[in-house]
Amino acid sequence: MSQTTYTVAIVGMGKRGKHHADAFHANSRFQVVGICDIDASRLEEAAASLDNPVTSTDADDLLSQTKPDVFCFCTLPNLRLEMIKLGVAHGTKLIDCEKPMALSTNEAVEIMQCVREAGIKTVVSHQHRYGEHYQKVEEIIASGALGRVHTVYGTATGWMMHMMTHLIDYIRWFNDEAEAEWVMGQASGRGKLSDAHPSPDYVAGIIQFANGVRGIVEAGAGAPDVPEVDYWWRKCRIGAQGTEGFAEVLTGGGWRAITRDSGGVLCGGGCMDYEHDMRPYVQQIADWLDNPQAVHPCNGESAFKGFEIMMGICRSVVARGQIQFPLGPGEPELEALARVLPDKPVLLSMPENAEEYL
Ligand SMILES: NC(=O)c1ccc[n+]([C@@H]2O[C@H](COP(=O)([O-])OP(=O)(O)OC[C@H]3O[C@@H](n4cnc5c(N)ncnc54)[C@H](O)[C@@H]3O)[C@@H](O)[C@H]2O)c1
Repeated sequence: MSQTTYTVAIVGMGKRGKHHADAFHANSRFQVVGICDIDASRLEEAAASLDNPVTSTDADDLLSQTKPDVFCFCTLPNLRLEMIKLGVAHGTKLIDCEKPMALSTNEAVEIMQCVREAGIKTVVSHQHRYGEHYQKVEEIIASGALGRVHTVYGTATGWMMHMMTHLIDYIRWFNDEAEAEWVMGQASGRGKLSDAHPSPDYVAGIIQFANGVRGIVEAGAGAPDVPEVDYWWRKCRIGAQGTEGFAEVLTGGGWRAITRDSGGVLCGGGCMDYEHDMRPYVQQIADWLDNPQAVHPCNGESAFKGFEIMMGICRSVVARGQIQFPLGPGEPELEALARVLPDKPVLLSMPENAEEYL
């Protein structure tokens, strides 16, 4: 039986746009029919390696010309709702976009309203989970070999809007995709509030999941070093502890575990690899389009729950104390943080962080 080929148009031909475009191009279930960037030189370069699809410097124009099944956009975080509205207006079946899904709860809520009303599937790129080391840790946790899981945790030295939705996505995966009941957080440092990924320099949060499991997340200048990993952006440690063991993944340095029956430390390799991780990510987009039951693991509804947790932690910094879910609309979190965070330099967890944060 012949399978449908899904057409794809991609907006933003920077680092990540090219990763998405190359992965769609390499998969026979997709045809890249168009690419867009406001920087025409980036377009020219990318088009040659994608069998010269339609090119445009305007996203609306590209979608009008190509009417794709899949609309992928990989712009910086300041462009989300506007792109979603374009995808809805042009009748796409699925929108694939980069994290973070928005810059505020208000924007994320509006995005979800738009796509739910239009019946459009959404996928948000938390693709690290396809790494063999991430898969191994999830497999150990899901097998029950840790006993009763009571704690899930994630840390990253990169700042919040870059890294924290990744952490939360993977700890929710390690915790049966449980939803949050409440969160509490604290933050420090104003330096990155004006970054293209606007964030406090350091943020830490406690999550009460509905299944009673405790979540702990930290991102930024004060998050602990992962000395086993050299590459700064991959100094992330994400794992679970149970009554009979623990299992954790280091984004740039494999995995390790002690389980009920291991009799010592188990460990293995693996390193975050865009090319490797994008292949199954894109394949599962085809699977979901083929079969509505085959919901993509990085689906937008799940990303929204993770994003809400991150924004709830920011709200806790501003309002103090615990923040109950669901959040609903409110003061945009980054503006609120800019209003309350004192102008004091952030304290570092390791000297290498000075380059980014001081
Ligand atoms: N999932 C991951 O592992 C991962 C890794 C790195 C970055 N990201 C995310 O990917 C997103 C993009 O990051 P990047 O590093 O590729 O950025 P980038 O700056 O390399 O690329 C963004 C591109 O968008 C283009 N652009 C800007 N406005 C546009 C518009 N109106 N229409 C068309 N094109 C436009 C820019 O010219 C640029 O080429 C960010 O949200 C970032 O957080 C995700």
